[in-house]
Amino acid sequence: MVDSMGQGTNDNSAAVRHIYVHIPFCARICPYCAFYKERADPAQAKRFCEALVAELGAIALRPKTIFFGGGTPTALTTDQLAFLLDGFQAQLDLSELEEWTFEANPGSVSGRKAQLLRANGVNRISLGVQSFDDGLLQLLGREHSAAQAEASFALLRGAGFGNLNVDLMFGLPGQTLAQWEATLQRALALKPDHISAYCLTYEEDTEFFLRHARGEFRTDAEADADFFVRTDELLGNAGFEHYEVSNYARPGFESVHNRAYWSGSDYLGLGPSAVSTVGLRRWQNVSDYRVYAERLLGGESASTGNEILTPGMKRSESIALSLRTNWGIPAEWVDDRPNEVEEFVRLGLMLPQAERYVLTREGRFLADSVAAAFI
Ligand SMILES: C[S@@+](CC[C@H](N)C(=O)[O-])C[C@H]1O[C@@H](n2cnc3c(N)ncnc32)[C@H](O)[C@@H]1O
Ligand code: SF4
Repeated sequence: MVDSMGQGTNDNSAAVRHIYVHIPFCARICPYCAFYKERADPAQAKRFCEALVAELGAIALRPKTIFFGGGTPTALTTDQLAFLLDGFQAQLDLSELEEWTFEANPGSVSGRKAQLLRANGVNRISLGVQSFDDGLLQLLGREHSAAQAEASFALLRGAGFGNLNVDLMFGLPGQTLAQWEATLQRALALKPDHISAYCLTYEEDTEFFLRHARGEFRTDAEADADFFVRTDELLGNAGFEHYEVSNYARPGFESVHNRAYWSGSDYLGLGPSAVSTVGLRRWQNVSDYRVYAERLLGGESASTGNEILTPGMKRSESIALSLRTNWGIPAEWVDDRPNEVEEFVRLGLMLPQAERYVLTREGRFLADSVAAAFI
């Protein structure tokens, strides 16, 4: 259901503790990526930053977490980042902030940017490495080499970041298990605090999707399962906890922001294409940064309208998100589906655990299909 209010915030929004900020710029567009992003244009980006600070001005929050994603937040210039950070410092009460993450690309991290972020309270960086194999990085259209990714990681540590994530992808066209193991080993050698390991998905409206449709690239579910199991083994042996299907953390380094999201907490999304959910109300900002800037700087909302979630939709989302995590779902959420529960337990995909159900390693690889049976 979509109503016509198109409002970005309301009274309940003031109690929201988690903020997502979408920065829609990238130095280069990767052929597999379906997130809303455009080639960075310094002149337009300045106006966009002004609009973002204007959107922030409409809310008064005391966030626990802030997550700058994209796109590539570090594709902004140092001056633009300084302008945004000043805006956030001035307009939000950051006294209870626990985690402030910035996504970064090895091609656009610099010592000055790293120091600026650190000095302004950003305490977690998620570095998009994808692979430590130069051939695969080329196939992925990345703007950096494996060595540059290592150098960026060292630079971020040197700047004082004690909480660093590395994003990696497996199931890439032509990738062998040995190549993936080598990437995981090189990632571990950097001693990151968190690793996100995503299975490549062929997203609609991307070049990779077309190449897949033409038969140039093939999906191989069995190979993907092998990559997944090997990741779980290697990272588990290195002391990482597999706390969500695609996420591994050293003890104490699980992402507070993502945990809140997976647990169904309310969140506000700022920036073009960003989604907000407060109670049963959900809205999305317009997915065009020029229109976004025009609206905000003209005193209008960037929202495309409200959707009112039904309790049933909320329940389905909670099952789908929580099942992906190592805390699973309360047993009572599925007590109306005893046959499915029994079948998944019998197949070794799900385990009862203290009034909850959690997925086994095999179950996690099939998390979305298991969730689909309950919703
Ligand atoms: C929103 S991107 C931002 C990261 C940053 N722009 C970069 O690429 O360096 C977050 C992560 O999503 C993952 N990702 C993007 N497209 C994907 C796809 N089609 N399949 C699987 N993972 C994907 C990548 O690992 C990427 O680092
Ligand atoms: S993967 Fe990252 S750098 Fe590449 S296009 Fe997507 S957001 Fe931009």
